[in-house]
Amino acid sequence: MLKDNLQELQQQETPFYVYDLNLLRQTLQLAATEAAKYNYHVHYALKANANAPILAEVLKAGFGADCVSGNEVKRAIESGFTPGNVVFAGVGKSDAEINYALDQDIFCFNCESSHELEVLNELAAAKGKKARIALRINPNVNANTHKYITTGLEENKFGINAWELESVLQQLSQLKNIQLIGIHFHIGSQITDLTVFKNLCTRVNEFQEWFVAHNITLEHINVGGGLGVDYYTPDANLIPDFAAYFGLFSQFLEVRPGQQVHFELGRSLVAQCGTLISKVLYIKKGITTNFAILDAGMTELIRPALYQSYHEIENLTSQKPEEKYDVVGPICESSDCFRKAVILPETSRGDLIAIRTAGAYGEVMASAYNLRDKATAIYV
Ligand code: LLP
Repeated sequence: MLKDNLQELQQQETPFYVYDLNLLRQTLQLAATEAAKYNYHVHYALKANANAPILAEVLKAGFGADCVSGNEVKRAIESGFTPGNVVFAGVGKSDAEINYALDQDIFCFNCESSHELEVLNELAAAKGKKARIALRINPNVNANTHKYITTGLEENKFGINAWELESVLQQLSQLKNIQLIGIHFHIGSQITDLTVFKNLCTRVNEFQEWFVAHNITLEHINVGGGLGVDYYTPDANLIPDFAAYFGLFSQFLEVRPGQQVHFELGRSLVAQCGTLISKVLYIKKGITTNFAILDAGMTELIRPALYQSYHEIENLTSQKPEEKYDVVGPICESSDCFRKAVILPETSRGDLIAIRTAGAYGEVMASAYNLRDKATAIYV
């Protein structure tokens, strides 16, 4: 896609994000088709990318929205998602955020602590409303992913731990402005080993038994997101294996009559459609490798600096023999490095560099550090 649009890319001021809307549509379509086979509901995690043209496509595919801030709830609703299709998670929802979501009558609050339940109950009571909630349970399942994006272990700040459930149920029986409709899980992100999801299903089945034993019927089971993408060979796997992913849940997740199953996918839907395009500013001689200094840095894409994450790096304009470079940004931080020892065709000032698989958690995590301008976005 990138080389076919080289002329257009060369006319843009760098750095910028380019999104392949065709690939996005195909990805969404496939996810929707595979989920529909089992009547599963997919809520798109806005935190991955909340750009208007992306949300418009997600909406067309018929997905709901998964939000983690009041502004995300607002963005979703203003973009056309019906409030009845919006879920709202987060360990630290502020009163203003909760009040806004109550006013909008969203589908469900995913509640992460007993203290939050107490506050939500008070705020709902003040409005004479009953808030629908799912308990976010921490299933203590290891996601085998980077420690900063693991969320389902007991040591993490997310969710309610198993040993607290008994007292939370007692508490709920006193909270008149809260209606328990389901349970929610999210164990982490960029999960590439599907057996992790099988382990999650086993734990969810156990929790379901526990609720049945306590005479509680749950209408909704939300298993979160987390399906990973191929950062190493993006072109070989532009669309994740949604058939295997949803198929695994249909095989291992026990669903009771009338129960609805929900997913919250972010990265797997949008990561591959986005690329960060940057220009080479300088080539600088180093001791062992040379530096290719780009006009994009950690302010445009923080993932390598924050999670030591791998992104494919391509030189779109040089066909010369290969050399080795440390590809770095212009920010005054040593961690502002996209990757060390990258093999690229001989690279010169002005060459266009593509940093792939940047559609999820790229633009949304940009910062203005060093008073940098915000990178623009184009859609092809
Ligand atoms: N649901 C909840 C409650 C979440 O916290 C997340 C992601 C998702 C769904 C969507 O997960 P996904 O399908 O995208 O894996 N900035 C990090 C990723 C942080 C993920 C946070 N939560 C990164 O760049 O890798």
